[in-house]
Amino acid sequence: MKKDNVIFFDTTLRDGEQSPGASMNLSEKLLIAKQLAALGVDVIEAGFPISSIGDFEAVKSISQQIKTVSIAGLCRATEKDIKTCWSAVKYSKKPRIHIFLATSDLHMEKKLKKTRAQVLDMAVKAVKHGKSLCKDVEFSAEDAGRSDMGFLCKIVEAVIDVGANTVNIPDTVGYTTPVEFGGKIAEIKKKVPNINGTIISVHCHNDLGLAVANSLSAIENGARQVECTINGIGERAGNAALEELAMALNVRSHYYNIKHSIKTNELCSTSKLVSKLTGIPIQANKAVVGANAFSHESGIHQDGILKARETYEIMNPSDVGIPESSLVLGKHSGRHAFFKRVKDLGYKLNSKILEQLFEKFKILADKKKTVFNDDIIALLEESSSSDKEIFILKYLSTTAGTATIPTATVKILKNKNDKEQKCEIFQEAACGSGPVDAAYKAIDKIVNMDIKLVDFSLKSVSSGEDALGEVILKIQYDGKIYLGKGTSTDIIEASAKAYIQAINKSVEF
Ligand code: KIV
Ligand code: ZN
Repeated sequence: MKKDNVIFFDTTLRDGEQSPGASMNLSEKLLIAKQLAALGVDVIEAGFPISSIGDFEAVKSISQQIKTVSIAGLCRATEKDIKTCWSAVKYSKKPRIHIFLATSDLHMEKKLKKTRAQVLDMAVKAVKHGKSLCKDVEFSAEDAGRSDMGFLCKIVEAVIDVGANTVNIPDTVGYTTPVEFGGKIAEIKKKVPNINGTIISVHCHNDLGLAVANSLSAIENGARQVECTINGIGERAGNAALEELAMALNVRSHYYNIKHSIKTNELCSTSKLVSKLTGIPIQANKAVVGANAFSHESGIHQDGILKARETYEIMNPSDVGIPESSLVLGKHSGRHAFFKRVKDLGYKLNSKILEQLFEKFKILADKKKTVFNDDIIALLEESSSSDKEIFILKYLSTTAGTATIPTATVKILKNKNDKEQKCEIFQEAACGSGPVDAAYKAIDKIVNMDIKLVDFSLKSVSSGEDALGEVILKIQYDGKIYLGKGTSTDIIEASAKAYIQAINKSVEF
């Protein structure tokens, strides 16, 4: 039997960005969009253009720069939203206007304060308007999971009549269960007379941990587009995880008999990039891309794996882009081995950045006996090509103890944005409630900005007493949140580096 194709519609940059604290700047969104294109997604939902100038610019830039993938923008069912959305996506080679309007009685009554007839009329007008601007229009019946099936079928039929190419059935609040949700898709296929020739899409939220299961059930029942995000990030408990959907369809290909265009060996690097840029860590036991997804702890399992991998592994780590390398790097490792490891880990970097990283690796290898993959990933994640290094930590000294007032002295180099690339050196000292606080107070005196630390976490990157410490923090400046990451074998230095990285992100030249 010929295999059907399922469209992967990635909404990491729109619904994913709605995860608390996950907002990204333009260059970060472009990096993710380029990686999503390399991953092979069919559609990138780049943002919600009317929601902010930043979102509008991001959708516009992504539409201008990514030419191989369809670019969608989200909008409500109003004239102004649709026009604004079109103004941002029209630069794409394959633009899509994605209109949403709530169809559950609860949303219509309480939120929209409209009757079913009014909502039906709005949906039809909006899709007509969208079609007058753009060939490709998707209509989403928000809260479809809790909508009356008769009304849902009626609105789906009406929007198809006026040209909707895709009808999306979102389980907006993650309320449905797999058999139930699959049944809804089957019912739409059966009851909507003009459904043939239109793509049924699903968009499942994960409030009950069922987003992937519901999406797969929908595919079994005829959905041919899945809306998903990398690492499953998104509003509240998130969306269906792209990597889990793609691997379920591959590993169980005989069961689903569905093709897709995802290049699964790009999954691991895409997942890491999204985690790094959003600051949302990947839980260790996360399916497909978690650190433990291919680790075997129990002796019985290890023994089985050594005898035949298939005993306890249903996927090959290399299928998802995890390098199977046991070679340990250390201070005697050369450039070649280091560059190869970076590439095997899924990072594509230019030679200038590679050289800078190699210098950092050498310093680390001098401090640590063995450099693990996780240490290298931490180095890679700390230095992002998109970061502007305005402030650079040059020197840090702290004193602390039970009988002393914690103090810190810092020396910071400030790059100036002039053609000669001149820089100035500043030095300050401060006391604090602990050495990290003292260092931050000294840095505050130098940068002279009203910064508030809103989140701080410290963890060990790899094992051993010489393990790297990694600090991830968020600062608030001028009403916006900025993420910083720093690593070092010295946790005070890691804390200072993370703080300065976040400050650098917040500063405009
Ligand atoms: O969850 C939802 O209903 C949405 C729509 C805008 C598609 O995100
Ligand atoms: Zn959503």
